[in-house]
Amino acid sequence: MEIIRTVSWMKEAARGSRAENHVTGLVPTMGALHEGHLSLVRRARTECSRVFASIFVNPAQFGANEDLAKYPRTFEEDVAKLEAEGVYAVFAPEPKEIYPPGFSTYVTVEGLSDRLEGKTRPGHFRGVATVVLKLFEIMQPVHAYFGRKDAQQVRVLQQMAADLNLDTNLVVCPLVREPDGLALSSRNVYLSAEERRGALVLYRALGALRDAAVAGERSAPRLQQLLVDTIAHEPLARVDYATLVDAETFEPVAVLGGRPTYALLAVYFGKTRLLDNLLIEPVGPSGELFCSL
Ligand code: PAJ
Repeated sequence: MEIIRTVSWMKEAARGSRAENHVTGLVPTMGALHEGHLSLVRRARTECSRVFASIFVNPAQFGANEDLAKYPRTFEEDVAKLEAEGVYAVFAPEPKEIYPPGFSTYVTVEGLSDRLEGKTRPGHFRGVATVVLKLFEIMQPVHAYFGRKDAQQVRVLQQMAADLNLDTNLVVCPLVREPDGLALSSRNVYLSAEERRGALVLYRALGALRDAAVAGERSAPRLQQLLVDTIAHEPLARVDYATLVDAETFEPVAVLGGRPTYALLAVYFGKTRLLDNLLIEPVGPSGELFCSL
């Protein structure tokens, strides 16, 4: 498995794959790989004849007071995992390769980028959209794989792809959890043993919401209160947001009904901010709900 460090080399590899008529897949990551990332690789392997991954801790999506410097970096282990999954090559550029001196063009997906994650992390989605567009241009994948774990990120990128008529097809993959329910995240390593135990309250709260919704509760304020009340039982948790939004607009909803809806959580444990979500989709003419936790 090749490790590709420069844009020009990566472009050449992408051109070569196209010339050989490969269906190419891209799994973009920031490294510190876990089973969530690897689930995207495995999905890509079933749909693509050649799978590329990228490992790039993207400075543009970190705020000034965020964890860029201490973001977990486990490059050797990551490479071994990707090789074991049959990845063809890894694009792992240095920051100056992606953002050379004088770099000044950024992509902003308006509206969607300002809510929720975007409110707490101003400029975050501008950094994500910019780097993903650059990766698409450099790597020219037919399919690119993203996790529902970062639901708003996926939605922002879908909007960018539609607005800019991108050729790459975005594939959204399920959220992968630890056996006890905690959503896998590279940031879980920041949690103390006590915080790690407390963090299970996210899964419990979303599970309680799911049960209430399936039992017939349709009021978003009441379901939201259920989230807040459940999380309040955990003294180490501090809620950033706990809300129900339309899965397309990410605007708050008043009632669960005809449209796919996300229950979204962003909760601090100490300095660590964890995300989790539940996707609620109406199915069939009787309006039954299908919940993906
Ligand atoms: P990163 O946090 O490394 O995540 C890379 C991909 O893995 C994202 O699509 C993310 O949603 C997915 N992922 C993470 N945890 C997951 C889980 N528990 N289950 C399923 N998928 C999971 O997201 C980024 O990097 C960056 O913003 C990036 C898109 C690479 C742009 O820099």
